Amino acid sequence: MAAQAGKTREQLKEEQIIDKERFAKVIKAIGLKVPVKQISQIQKELSDCLIVIPKFKVVKGIEGDDARKCVLMRDEAREKVDAYAKEHGFDTMEHTISLTYDNLTMSEVLKELLPPDIDEIPSGFETIGDVAHLNLTGKSFELRFLIGQVVLDKNPMIKRVVTKVGQIESTYRFYDLDCIAGDDSNLETTVLEDKVRFLVDVSRVYWCSKLGSERNRMIEHILKEGEVLCDMFCGIGPLAVKAAVKKRIRVIANDLNPACYEYIQKNIKLNKVEKLVVPFNMDAREFVRQCVNASKDASQTKIPEHMLRFDHCYMNLPVDAVEFLDAFIGLFKDANPKVWGTPVKLPMIHVYGFTYHHEEGEAKKYFTERIGKAMNYQGFKEEDIAFFHNIRTVSPQSVMYGVSFRLPEAVAFSDQAKPNAEGGAGVALYEEFEDEGRKKIVKQ
Ligand SMILES: C[S@@+](CC[C@H](N)C(=O)[O-])C[C@H]1O[C@@H](n2cnc3c(N)ncnc32)[C@H](O)[C@@H]1O
Repeated sequence: MAAQAGKTREQLKEEQIIDKERFAKVIKAIGLKVPVKQISQIQKELSDCLIVIPKFKVVKGIEGDDARKCVLMRDEAREKVDAYAKEHGFDTMEHTISLTYDNLTMSEVLKELLPPDIDEIPSGFETIGDVAHLNLTGKSFELRFLIGQVVLDKNPMIKRVVTKVGQIESTYRFYDLDCIAGDDSNLETTVLEDKVRFLVDVSRVYWCSKLGSERNRMIEHILKEGEVLCDMFCGIGPLAVKAAVKKRIRVIANDLNPACYEYIQKNIKLNKVEKLVVPFNMDAREFVRQCVNASKDASQTKIPEHMLRFDHCYMNLPVDAVEFLDAFIGLFKDANPKVWGTPVKLPMIHVYGFTYHHEEGEAKKYFTERIGKAMNYQGFKEEDIAFFHNIRTVSPQSVMYGVSFRLPEAVAFSDQAKPNAEGGAGVALYEEFEDEGRKKIVKQ
């Protein structure tokens, strides 16, 4: 089946309906009649001869014979099965099996349906709740409805199948998606991560299941009970809500994307952490500035008094969170000592970023320099970094790292003008990042 250019989405969809009848076929098998008690032993001994077909039972009853059952073996293994039957005094019988579309695996169906010159036969996919997330390109994209239907049919947990279309949305970090199978009326799904439930609309917000272990590292090893976390780019709240549920961490959580704000509110409610997580919807620089300034005049903010001083700042916008560090320059000069203490106990910063450097030493050197530049503090040294973590390899060109350090006093109390909400401190930094297919020039 070849998709042709110029056809509408609807025409393609109609054309790419699977003819399931074409998969019907009858195959030959040998039935080995064995005593009921010996079935598992024989299945072990002849494991390489057994018929393996999805949704198909290889052990069949024999009419009028309660003491024995028939174990079905591959016709190609006839010689070995016959020898085994003879040696143990078992009978055999000829058998035919009628196979349908339902008896084939996803790869078997795709192999048969897709043209041989297809770029890549999809063998797996990412799941977000009950949504299967594919990344189809070229000819596979043209045949997306066919592929989507097979994925849906062959994976009972999946209710909708989507594929990425084009590049990642630059600010809010979600992909344009085409729903290629299942109910496309909305793309909201529920993700369960370590017993914490998250509602996610995959077409409007960022979600990455692969960061689950990093969230656990933060919760288990970094955040301590009773502490306050300032999550500057919180998304729909995977860390904020999970930290509150798992460790009773209090969180002020912010994201610029209005859809994230809508969903974090839902997730706070869903997990009953209304008293622990307070959501905001604004630019991260403006947010952190308001948080610290609120220590002087709490009437201007909805941050509860017991969350005005935060212990940690979590900055998970790897493409350019580092450049947001300018927001901390001089930020604590006017912090209220009654809230922040004397001397002020400055927060730990946990910032994420991408780099081309795979070698850890090189990557650390790179981030030290970049962080120092962003904070306009040349004194920032590798020794100032408390934790340096390789999070994951995103592509052959790009590795994601997490860097933790205590905000240096020289930055927090700097006399340089505080940056405004829109702009940075004027750092001259040029770097090209490859971020899951998207290139961004960070340039100020
Ligand atoms: C990579 S996502 C991470 C979200 C969340 N921490 C998670 O792990 O799912 C980065 C988030 O930053 C948000 N964002 C982008 N620019 C922002 C800004 N200037 N201020 C606040 N949030 C921003 C995006 O909307 C997105 O949800």
